[in-house]
Parts: sequence; structure tokens; C-alpha cells
Amino acid sequence: MATSQDQLKQQVAQAAFDYVKDHLPAQAIIGVGTGSTVNFFIDALAELKQDIEAAVSSSEASTERLKQHGIRVVDLNSVSEVPIYVDGADEIDEHMRMVKGGGGALTREKIIAAVAKKVVCIADESKQVGRLGRFPIPVEVIPMARSYVARQIVKLGGDPVWREGFTTDNGNWILDIHNLDIVDPIHLEQQLNNIVGVVTNGLFAQRGADIAIIAGDAGIKTLK
Ligand code: 5RP
Repeated sequence: MATSQDQLKQQVAQAAFDYVKDHLPAQAIIGVGTGSTVNFFIDALAELKQDIEAAVSSSEASTERLKQHGIRVVDLNSVSEVPIYVDGADEIDEHMRMVKGGGGALTREKIIAAVAKKVVCIADESKQVGRLGRFPIPVEVIPMARSYVARQIVKLGGDPVWREGFTTDNGNWILDIHNLDIVDPIHLEQQLNNIVGVVTNGLFAQRGADIAIIAGDAGIKTLK
């Protein structure tokens, strides 16, 4: 019988927990991402709370969940090193490039990924793709720039859709870009970043994952 997506998320979260247990130095800071897969990881991480110094978190939702488990959450500004950052993805390709931000936490996720020594992506196999872009690319924008940024995105060949009613933890808005034909994700990531009013975009190509732990019907596989 096929394993449900939630079971796969739980399995991959457990595998990430095992990885962290074996690889995170004692009393270090762990980076924690956002989303339903990460929620399972946070629940597992509670068992390790005596062994970690604290966590840095990519969203208010994850911070809340970490605190509920008694895991201390600290400001990234007070931290010089994050040895391991565990986060989910909406898509991941064979080059470990990702699309992220389905949950709207892309900016804080990208910042922690930039600081982290190792980015560990945890996902079920439905997230593995040959080419990025079927999942709409989220772009966080300063609210007053929304229409301008949308017009610039149309010039790049995409169809921007405003995620109406959603405000990010940073007080900004999200445009989701549909129908982009992404030949060169690194170049597109730079082009989107260059639009004035864009805070971040959900292409994680310049800095992708270092390790991907993927759960599927056949079990867990680790890609490096
Ligand atoms: C949130 C993210 C998530 O990692 C991504 O959306 C995957 O979420 P889920 O594990 O719920 O499928 O980037 O901004």
C-alpha cells in the first residue's frame, strides 16, 4: 500500500533528526525552517533539547512550536555560526536547487540558509522535479511596489498572482509567479532580486541545499 504524504513527511523528519543527532556539535545552534514537514521535525527535535544550545527560526509559526517544546529560540543577530539548517521545499532538482516559500517564509529562510554551514532539505519525493517552476515562484515585495514588480515580472515572461490576504512575518506581500519557463534558475534568481521593491524570491539556486533527505515509497534516500 502506498505511504501517505503525511507518513512520508514524518519519516523524513525522523531521518533529519537522526542526521542532526549524529552531526550537530554539542551545544550548538540549529537552524529550523518552516512548513508541515518541518513541523514533524520540530516535534522530533524536542527529544534533543538538552543537547542543543538554542534554535534560530525562519518564522513566527516555527518559533511558537519550538518554544512549546521548550526549545530556546534566539535572534540570528546574536549568533555567529549555524552548523546545520533543516528546512522543507516546494521543489528540488537534481542540482539541489530549490523553490521555497509556499508558506511565505522565504526571506527568513534565505537569510538562515546564507548563514548556515550545511543546508539540509527534507522532503517527500513528490517535491523532486526535473525542472523547477511548476510550483509558482513566490516573491516577497514591499507592499507599495506590488503593481510595479508585477509589471516587471510580466516582462520576464511570468504571470504574477497576488497572494491576497496574506502578509509575511516581515509585514510584506507575496506575488506567486506562474508559467515561468526556467532555463537558468541562478540567472532568474538574480533578475528577480534586481527588481526594485523585491525583498527576496523563492528560488534557492545560488545557495541551494547541501544535503537532501527524501522520503518515498521505497524508503529514505540521501543526496549530496
Ligand atoms: C515555507 C517553505 C516550506 O519549506 C515549503 O513550502 C514546504 O512546505 P511543506 O513541508 O509544508 O510542504 O518554503 O516558506
